[in-house]
Amino acid sequence: CERQDRRPSKQRLLVVANRLPVSAVRKGEDSWQLEMSVGGLVTALLGVKEFEARWIGWAGVNVPDEIGQRALTKALAEKRCIPVFLDEEIVHQYYNGYCNNMLWPLFHYLGLPQEDRLATTRSFQSQFDAYKKANQMFADVVNEHYEEGDVVWCHDYHLMFLPKCLKEYNSKMKVGWFLHTPFPSSEIHRQLPSRSELLRSVLAADLVGFHTYDYARHFVSACTRILGLEGTPEGVEDQGKLTRVAAFPIGIDSDRFIRALELPQVQEHMKELKGRFDGRKVMLGVDRLDMIKGIPQKLLAFEKFLEENPTWRDKVVLLQIAVPTRTDVPEYQKLTSQVHEIVGRINGRFGTLTAVPIHHLDRSLDFHALCALYAVTDVALVTSLRDGMNLVSYEFVACQALKKGVLILSEFAGAAQSLGAGAILVNPWNVTEVASSIGYALNMPAEEREKRHWHNFMHVTTHTSQEWAETFVSELNDTIVEAQLRTKQ
Ligand code: ADP
Ligand code: G6P
Repeated sequence: CERQDRRPSKQRLLVVANRLPVSAVRKGEDSWQLEMSVGGLVTALLGVKEFEARWIGWAGVNVPDEIGQRALTKALAEKRCIPVFLDEEIVHQYYNGYCNNMLWPLFHYLGLPQEDRLATTRSFQSQFDAYKKANQMFADVVNEHYEEGDVVWCHDYHLMFLPKCLKEYNSKMKVGWFLHTPFPSSEIHRQLPSRSELLRSVLAADLVGFHTYDYARHFVSACTRILGLEGTPEGVEDQGKLTRVAAFPIGIDSDRFIRALELPQVQEHMKELKGRFDGRKVMLGVDRLDMIKGIPQKLLAFEKFLEENPTWRDKVVLLQIAVPTRTDVPEYQKLTSQVHEIVGRINGRFGTLTAVPIHHLDRSLDFHALCALYAVTDVALVTSLRDGMNLVSYEFVACQALKKGVLILSEFAGAAQSLGAGAILVNPWNVTEVASSIGYALNMPAEEREKRHWHNFMHVTTHTSQEWAETFVSELNDTIVEAQLRTKQ
């Protein structure tokens, strides 16, 4: 059959994600301040411009009263966002509990929660019930705003139950689901008490996408091994219904970063930073303060490097910018104290009266400050223990056209598959290996740096978030047409 041109230009797109691109802070009974949310999902989706997109999600705040809800709905409408209001108990059980204490660590190979396993097992059912309830609430809002012809694109591990809820409302709705984390080996996924129900709900979508081919393969294996379904090169088949499964590696809006470097305020920031760290090489880490980012491992590797290379002690500085995240989850609170303790120890050990080797900030930086920091960096350190993709590594590369700094990148980040040839790949658990890679990166000759940078720069500037979204949505449109043709035959 001939395919019509299904380029999704200005197609209406309903993006459904737990996190809206803006988070709300209440300023009065009916007044709200909206702040940019931090995270890879938001960064990537903000780069998507070719659609008439509306974003449905949670504004990160509990709004129990009607006046507040009405005012927030109005404020969000100006940003083309539609809120889903979740009460405190649901947030506690669904977001803090099931999503961030259960699915997130498991999908990143960190296991089910370590502490008090029995308590976790007991709370599992109530958390899963809340998860399903929350997903149903998202489905209600989507259904309310859906118009025929819209494409509904559901995102991430928070909303694995959503495709099923949406198809129950309307089996003709075009539904895609994309996972921004790794999908683990089926041997890991099968530990989840709700393993089958989650897989079946995702399979209700027309198209299921992952960052890498490996994650897609793991998902298909989970469906064949746990559900006994048939895996095909196209996806997963269940009683004649095919759910297409494929890899769609995400990217960033690289032009936005490249253009920002020309702005006077960014140039000013760069000048300040260069003056401040004159005579020292700058190493950089930018992460959410998350257990998967391997921040303690990164700090220990830096400590080892300083220990073994005394001549570098006053010639290098590590700037670690770690924005707090999911602060109500105990694992994250523990991580914060652990990181502070390690930073304090290393600075106490190697600092002088006038300088410390690590500058650690527990906060988010605005876009311009971040671009300036990326641009003046000599070596970026991304040491995720697992990471769906890791867009910080892409952002660093985009800002390095002049400096051609070195990227040290965890082999467990999805980005290792796209930036592996230009980066120095490391196993973040191997502190000795990371420490020696730091030495190698700091001493790397200009010619090798240029070659490595060029490889990565070409990738980052050609595989953009725009292209990612267009490919996914276009494939979703085709998937629907193919299904219609199959039923006609
Ligand atoms: P994740 O999706 O796990 O948060 P990514 O590396 O894919 O990881 O994306 C993180 C996004 O959040 C990037 O766009 C990065 O610029 C942004 N970010 C992370 N930490 C900070 C910070 N401290 N200040 C500002 N932005 C940050
Ligand atoms: C990762 C997840 C996103 C999430 C982001 C920030 O990127 O894949 O879904 O939005 O982290 O986490 P938060 O819990 O603050 O939304």
